[in-house]
Amino acid sequence: MPLLNIFDYEELARRKLSKPFFEYIAGGADDETTLRRNREAFERIELSPRALVDVSHVDLTTSVLGQAVEMPVLLAPVAVQRLAHPEGELATAGAAAQAGTIMTLSTMASASIEEVASASNGPKWFQLYVHRDRNVSKSMVQRADAVGYKAVCLTVDVPRLGRRERDLRNRLEYPPGVAHRNYIGEVELPPFEVEPGESELSASADVLIDPALTWEVIDWLRSFTSLPVIVKGIMTAEDARFAVDHGASAIVVSNHGGRQLDGAPASISVLPEIAAAVDGRCEVLLDSGIRRGTDIVKALALGANAVLIGRAYIWPLTLEHELRGAAQVHVALPVPFDCQHPARLLHLDAAAHPAVEPRRHHRRAAAAAAGQRFPHAPLPDAKCHSLWRLHLSDAEVHPLGKRRVALHLRADRLQRIALDRLLNE
Ligand SMILES: Cc1cc2nc3c(=O)[nH]c(=O)nc-3n(C[C@H](O)[C@H](O)[C@H](O)COP(=O)(O)O)c2cc1C
Repeated sequence: MPLLNIFDYEELARRKLSKPFFEYIAGGADDETTLRRNREAFERIELSPRALVDVSHVDLTTSVLGQAVEMPVLLAPVAVQRLAHPEGELATAGAAAQAGTIMTLSTMASASIEEVASASNGPKWFQLYVHRDRNVSKSMVQRADAVGYKAVCLTVDVPRLGRRERDLRNRLEYPPGVAHRNYIGEVELPPFEVEPGESELSASADVLIDPALTWEVIDWLRSFTSLPVIVKGIMTAEDARFAVDHGASAIVVSNHGGRQLDGAPASISVLPEIAAAVDGRCEVLLDSGIRRGTDIVKALALGANAVLIGRAYIWPLTLEHELRGAAQVHVALPVPFDCQHPARLLHLDAAAHPAVEPRRHHRRAAAAAAGQRFPHAPLPDAKCHSLWRLHLSDAEVHPLGKRRVALHLRADRLQRIALDRLLNE
């Protein structure tokens, strides 16, 4: 089975992982309506191809909060990655640095802030779930600042953990040695008894996450840290304005990958009204449902500065070992998007879509640095007159661990990587 796209990786990950771990990553809340909606909404958006445009030179670089990145794709916070890979977040940190993009470390990570900081020099953000005891959270933010994380990403869509019924049915428990390592030394974690109808995450989230937060929490954060604050989980124009008014440097339009409020719209559906409300006063990022390069195109065209991906990098991470063993390279593929079309590269029609022209990001960042407002371009309607496909060209194969050999594998070479063991299972 050639690995051509994220869905192929997901299928192989499904065969490899135990059912509870696979379902923890893949699943959503309640009936998973929002989870499905995320994909359906991307599929409904049409792209109008344009002909005879020189795409021989392409440039995917941009900047997010003043940080130069190789592509408008960042890694979203994903908890307990050691369920997917023995090195978990440490492997992700190496892959993100190699890809030249930003990794966001979850509060609920299975490697600590400091361990991840020493695993790679790449740019990192720290995602914050605010603890009932604010001193615990303050300490985590200060620890992140001390070891060089560049921003705090405050997740605001988990007042209580979404009801993820797959996890409850599976009575999901972490294996021995896997824990929420950021809390060690901060707070005494009671041994969680996972009762029938619970999961380890649902039992611990109730203890660890403060359900009483209001907008004041952003002021509190800004009172003791000078790190930029990114507010993740914004789904309405009104909340976007609140976030800006409270001094957010960026928002992430996100429904948590369909894992929180089931029934919420797809994040891509609400992006245009939110981008219009923000009107260039902070950066706008989007996640939830990104699986293809063309999804990224659609998000940029509808007003996002960049996107974050969650499951789309966890599935390749899950398979890193097999790929490495077979091909004798250390492989993590955070973004093997659309690698079946190596000839069709990114091209941007600045005139038609100033909102998606990468230079515009640079200009916006420069304006923000100078304290000026940078107006948002008029948004196209949902039918984007994009003339290009976002194509992250060759699948980037990123070395991990001790071998620091960077390889660029084309899709056809990827196919040659034997995955026999997995496939024959
Ligand atoms: C397994 C898993 C764990 C996650 N853990 C966190 C987390 O700890 N903090 C957080 O803010 N978001 C978390 N998220 C949500 C992601 O940051 C992101 O919003 C979501 O994955 C985007 O949807 P996508 O997976 O379709 O790309 C998690 C998502 C998954 C799939």
